[in-house]
Formats: sequence, structure tokens, C-alpha cells
Amino acid sequence: MSCMNCSDSKMIVLEHVYQVYPMKDGPVHALQDVNVTIEKGDFVVIQGQSGSGKTTLLHILGLLKNPSEGTVRYEGQDCKGWDETTCAKYRNQTIGFVMQQDALIPYLTLEENIRVPQMIAGKIKEESIGKLLRFTQIEKQKNHLPNECSGGQRQRAVLARALVNTPQILLCDEPTASLDSANANRMVQLLRGLHRIGITIVLVTHDKRYAKAGNRLWYVHHGRVTECDIGSDIP
Ligand SMILES: Nc1ncnc2c1ncn2[C@@H]1O[C@H](COP(=O)(O)OP(=O)(O)OP(=O)(O)O)[C@@H](O)[C@H]1O
Ligand SMILES: [Mg+2]
Repeated sequence: MSCMNCSDSKMIVLEHVYQVYPMKDGPVHALQDVNVTIEKGDFVVIQGQSGSGKTTLLHILGLLKNPSEGTVRYEGQDCKGWDETTCAKYRNQTIGFVMQQDALIPYLTLEENIRVPQMIAGKIKEESIGKLLRFTQIEKQKNHLPNECSGGQRQRAVLARALVNTPQILLCDEPTASLDSANANRMVQLLRGLHRIGITIVLVTHDKRYAKAGNRLWYVHHGRVTECDIGSDIP
């Protein structure tokens, strides 16, 4: 999908974004007046307490959800008019997701799981699969089913799958939550490497050790997002 104004460094802009979940016992205000911009080449770390709205924010950034109110712009284009097919194509070709629960298909091997987004896009590139297996250090496990692998190996396969269509932006929701500290560090090092080669990264993590893993830090509190000074301590 082409960028209407490629000299624009803004990747995603949210303006006055609200998300309300109507529940029987009253509405849940998951996001309230969110105004943020992600520049191309940013590495944004998002922190905040459980239930503060981080996953909801990531889903809106990733076009998985339309906000109840407000504007979402991708590379200058207002996404409001986009139908589900357009959003799905954009997600497949531009965005890579590493979700909160690893969502590998249990009856496919790691390698087959990694191929799925390429099959959807209709572009099979053997050399990119080999490179990704090496980059994420799961070559030896490529023919294993997910339940025959460690948590770290599974999560790196999720990362490889997110990268297979060479996305411009990678959205990661607690990719280290179920990992021991060595595997968590390995995952964050991989993300830093991807950032160095120009991929825009958004990393949701409650782990304070990674607050300064990127070049920007957002804190979410009761659905409101504030930008923190990377040099200061987070609230
Ligand atoms: N589909 C839904 N229906 C109703 N309420 C929801 C739904 N999804 C999320 N919520 C509510 O919205 C608020 C924000 O949820 P969200 O999942 O974005 O939080 P989070 O910051 O990612 O939390 P965690 O750190 O536990 O993953 C919570 O109060 C949650 O209960
Ligand atoms: Mg969450």
C-alpha cells in the first residue's frame, strides 16, 4: 500500500482517541483522549499497571480495533473509511504483531507457523525463512511442534512470524512476560537489533528493566497516555 506523503516521518497518529466498552455494570473507559504520534524509526516502550489500557492501545495502533471515538492516521491517511479487507491487507503487509499470548498454531511446526503470513500474502520467499530461523536462533527446532519447544523458542518463532513479510512496524505486547530473564533479555536484544536496521518498534512491557530499551517511553494510567522523559524514573 503506498504512502501518500512519503517525506512525512509520521508513521501513526492518534488524535483524541477514546475506547469505551459498554458493560452491564457500566461502561469501562479503557482509553481516554489519547493523542500520540509514532515517528518512523521510533522504538516506543509502553508501561502501565494491569488494566490501564496498554493492550487496547496496541490493538488500535495495529488496526485490530476501531476506537469508539477519535482519529487514527497511518502514514497520513485517515483509517476511518478503511473496510476490513483494507485493514487486513495493511496488517499483513505493513504491521508485525507479537501478541500477549503466543498464538502459534499447535498442529503446525515452527517453520510452518512462520510461513503462514507469507501464504496469506501469496509471496513465498524461501531465503527469508532461512534468514529468520537463523536470526531468531530456532533453526534446530524448525520441524518441532510448538508444544515440543521451550517458551523462549516459541516466543522467538512468534517474532520470526511477525517479521516474515518485512513489516515497517512491529507491535509487541508483553513478549517477555512468560520468559526467564535470560530469554527475556535475548528477546529485547533482538528487538534492538531490528530497530537498528530501521524497523519501528512498539513494546508493551511491565518490566521496569526495559523502560529505557527504546528511544521513547509512554506511561498509561487509567486509559490516559503520557510521554515520559527517558532520563527520569517512571511513576
Ligand atoms: N473486550 C473487552 N470488553 C470489556 N472490557 C474490556 C475488554 N478488553 C479490555 N477491557 C477492559 O479495558 C481495560 C483495559 O484493558 P487492557 O487489556 O487494555 O489493559 P492492559 O493494560 O493491557 O492490562 P494487562 O497489563 O493486564 O494486560 C480493563 O479495565 C479491561 O477490563
Ligand atoms: Mg495487556
